Formats: sequence, structure tokens, C-alpha cells
Amino acid sequence: MIIRDLKRLTLLLGPLFLILLLSASLWHSNPDYLRSGVSTLLGKNPKDTASWTSDGPRKPRLIPNETHYEIFSATSTDGKFYEIRFGHPVFNPNIIPHNKFNDTWHIVGQLHKVATGNFLEDINFQEVGCAAQFIHGSLMCIDFFRPLPYEPTNDIANGSLCSSDYNIVKLNVGPHDARVFYGPQNPFTVYGSNSAVTCFGQFIRDFREMVDWEYEFLTNHDFKHGTELVRPGELAQLEKNYFPFWDNYDYMHLHWSIYPTRGYARLYNNGTTGPNLANKTAEADNKCLTRYLPKPPNKFESIHQASNSLKVTLCDRADPKCSPNAGNTYIMTVIQHKTFYNYHSEYEPYVVLFQQRPPFELYAISKKPLWISGRKRHQGRKTDMMYVTSINWREKGLKYHGYLDDIIMMGFGYEDKYSGLLDLRAGDLLVDMGLCEEPAQHKEPEPEEMEDAEV
Ligand SMILES: *[C@@H]1O[C@H](CO)[C@@H](O)[C@H](O)[C@H]1NC(C)=O
Ligand SMILES: *[C@@H]1O[C@H](CO)[C@@H](O)[C@H](O)[C@H]1NC(C)=O
Ligand SMILES: *[C@@H]1O[C@H](CO)[C@@H](O)[C@H](O)[C@H]1NC(C)=O
Ligand SMILES: *[C@@H]1O[C@H](CO)[C@@H](O)[C@H](O)[C@H]1NC(C)=O
Ligand SMILES: *[C@@H]1O[C@H](CO)[C@@H](O)[C@H](O)[C@H]1NC(C)=O
Repeated sequence: MIIRDLKRLTLLLGPLFLILLLSASLWHSNPDYLRSGVSTLLGKNPKDTASWTSDGPRKPRLIPNETHYEIFSATSTDGKFYEIRFGHPVFNPNIIPHNKFNDTWHIVGQLHKVATGNFLEDINFQEVGCAAQFIHGSLMCIDFFRPLPYEPTNDIANGSLCSSDYNIVKLNVGPHDARVFYGPQNPFTVYGSNSAVTCFGQFIRDFREMVDWEYEFLTNHDFKHGTELVRPGELAQLEKNYFPFWDNYDYMHLHWSIYPTRGYARLYNNGTTGPNLANKTAEADNKCLTRYLPKPPNKFESIHQASNSLKVTLCDRADPKCSPNAGNTYIMTVIQHKTFYNYHSEYEPYVVLFQQRPPFELYAISKKPLWISGRKRHQGRKTDMMYVTSINWREKGLKYHGYLDDIIMMGFGYEDKYSGLLDLRAGDLLVDMGLCEEPAQHKEPEPEEMEDAEV
């Protein structure tokens, strides 16, 4: 049945068109239809002192028209981002420290497809990777570049849960848009594939199963096989961009939505989840989200989750007085404001911090989006499309938790074809964060608050 459909479609559409359609529907599904409204004027107060910022020439700074903070590489010669060279066009990269070798990383990304004319090959998507090191100013493969052994999804629904709008998606073979990141003990990968409970879902697997990794006794061995993540509530046809996070007891939770309201729940080792815990804090969280994020004015704009999560203590590892506690340690993630005009997507990244213990309320959001140094503007309003996919600590031995002076490798895809990374101090990623709840004694009449009052 599917094979007959495939043949018919090949004849009708041709392979290139199919790849375009399949890619477009999986990576750039229609922006959510959101309430229209005047966008909140962000950043009315550019003179605000940047909090938690490092000193030095590569300190984040406002770009000339003050719409973004430019963030710089801590180690590249010119402060601009590094290219990641897989040797083939690969995008949406992830970088984690290698388990054995110093100054070496596992890198994983989505292979950019070029139509071959062979239908079964053309619908077969792959996540590829290698071990990599910095050579001549870029992060390059130093061993075999290869597809990672993502298991085919146990597609018991055979695409029968795809509505007619998403018929093309059920032809998909292979993983999409994988994330690779450390939890408190070991690394995981989360990826999209054909779902057993909706059309296209999100799966998780212990990343040690995907590469040559010595068996470790004292770590968690959950998700030895690819396991579908099933969140509570009504599922969309395409479920995307989930990230897990771990609380102060290292219990695992799943975060599937940030905007317009958050969604998160306890995650069990069979892929099932508890009830949505987000409504306990929804009122305060929604206020904070609307205070600091632009309000998407139409269906061509949306705000969604982008990266995995890390836990960060807001003082320096090098500071002997710095010790993690409930008042200084938060979960960090990157979200993006997407715009899609003139057939070109652009993504503006913001950092979000939330509490590491229930009910996990929001703590702070970037007041302005971040501009990766090296991102270019083209004629008109067009800029390089850069899509942040991953944040991981750079040093071998660091897993989920780090400090402001630890360096993060932020991976991003650009123009759906290439990969880059920016290595920067966590403190620089957290430039000019707006707190959800400003302490009462520091309260000054700020423009944002006056806006709130007018609403
Ligand atoms: C400043 O921002 C505006 C609107 O976002 C944009 O059109 C313009 O190109 C920017 N100018 C510079 C110099 O970056
Ligand atoms: C790797 O780095 C650690 C920490 O700097 C060091 O102690 C160790 O000797 C290094 N190992 C090798 C093989 O260079
Ligand atoms: C899916 O396809 C398999 C093999 O063709 C078949 O055995 C199974 O019954 C199908 N499942 C559904 C839900 O249609
Ligand atoms: C999954 O695990 C949870 C927690 O251990 C358990 O309550 C639930 O019954 C399990 N569900 C399935 C389908 O095995
Ligand atoms: C929050 O969600 C839970 C589970 O869906 C529900 O039982 C509860 O009534 C909700 N609470 C509020 C305040 O909406």
C-alpha cells in the first residue's frame, strides 16, 4: 500500500520536490496561529547595565541599532563563530565532550540531502557524526564520518495517524533534527521520527548506544533503545523540539512547550509522563513571557523551544565562596523567535532560566535576543538564518551542571545546510536577563512596568 503510494508519488512529484516537501514539513511546519496584537517594545532601556557579564573585549555588547546583544567566541581569533566541518553539508549540530580523549568532541548533525533520483534513498534521512577537534580554525572530523545507528521507529500506526495535510510526512524514513546532550550522569539523544501515537513524534535514547563508549557501571541505563516520549494533552500532528530537564533530585522531566504557555511533566523511563505541572505557575509565567518576549503579530511569526537544557549556578567555579544552592542554581535553555517572510526563516535566540525544583517557575528571560558574532545581514531585512540546536559544556568531565565561568559550546545550523558553533562563557550567554520577579527593594519605574499597567 505504502509502496504503491510511493511509486505513484515518485512519478507525480519527482524526488527533488519530495525532499523539499518532506524537509519543509518537518523542519518548518506552519507557524502557530497566535493572537494578533501590537508587539511588545523590547529593550526600551538600552542603558541598563548588563548583569552577570564578564569583563574584557569579548564581553557581549549591543549591536549598533540596539536590537540584539552580539555574543563572541571566547577562543576564535576574531571572536566570530567557528565553522563545523563534517566534510559534507550537515546542519543542526550538537557537540559534546568526547568520553575518552581530551580536546576532542563527539559531533552529530542532520545530513543535508541532495536529490539522487532514487526514491527510497531520497526519503531516507540520516543523522551523521564523527569525533572532532579544532584544526586550522574550525571543528573538523578526525575519524570516520558516518551515519549514526538511530533505530528505525517501530511504526505500528503505519502513518494512519497522519491527517491528509501531513500525508507526505508518513513517507519519512530515518531520524530528524536530533539533539545530543548530557544529563547528570550520561548523554542522551532526542530526535523526531514516525510516531505510534500521532503522525510524527519525539524519541529518546541513551547516546552511549550510538557510539563507541565504554560500559559504565554506576550510571543510569534508561532508554537503551529508542523510546517515544508521550506527553500529556492533545498531541499535534508534528511534535517537535522537546527537551528533558533534571530537577534538584535528578528526577527527569519533559518540557515540550514554552510559548504562549509552558508545558512540562515528570518523565518516566518507559517514555510516559505524569500530568502537566505547568498550570501551577502559568499565571506568573505567562506574565513574564509577555513582558520580555515579542508578541508574534501573525501566523508568520512564532516562539518555540530550540535547545536542550543545562543546569547553571550563577557564580564562578573559580570563586571559593561560590557554592550551588536553591537560590543561585537554575535550569537554562535557549528558545527562538521565528519569523518567516519572503520564503526565508530567521530565528532570534533568547535564553530562559527556570527553577530547578517544583513547581519550576520561570526565573528570568533575555531582555533582547542574541546575535551570534559572524551572522551577516543581506540586502533588505534578510539576515543569515541561524537555528540554535544545542548547548553543552565544553570541558571533558562536565555533564549537566556548570558555573558562569564555564564555557558552553552552542551549536547552530545555518541556512539548513551548514553547521557552526560559538564557544562562550555561560555568563556571556546570560547577558542582560530580565527577572520575572524583580526584588521589591530594587523596584524602579521601568518602561516595561508602565506597559504592563496600560494593558
Ligand atoms: C536595525 O534594525 C532594523 C529593524 O530591525 C533593520 O531593518 C536594520 O537593517 C538594522 N540596521 C543595522 C545597521 O543593523
Ligand atoms: C587530559 O586532561 C587532564 C586534565 O587537564 C589531564 O590531567 C590528563 O593528563 C590529560 N590526558 C591526556 C592523555 O593528555
Ligand atoms: C501496519 O503494517 C503492518 C505490516 O504491513 C501490519 O501487519 C499492521 O497490521 C499494520 N498496522 C496498522 C495499525 O495498520
Ligand atoms: C510507565 O512507567 C510508569 C512509572 O513507573 C508506570 O506508572 C506506568 O504504568 C508505565 N506505563 C507503561 C505503559 O508501562
Ligand atoms: C492543572 O492541571 C491538572 C491536570 O491536568 C488539573 O487536574 C488541575 O485542575 C489544573 N489546575 C488548574 C489550577 O488549572
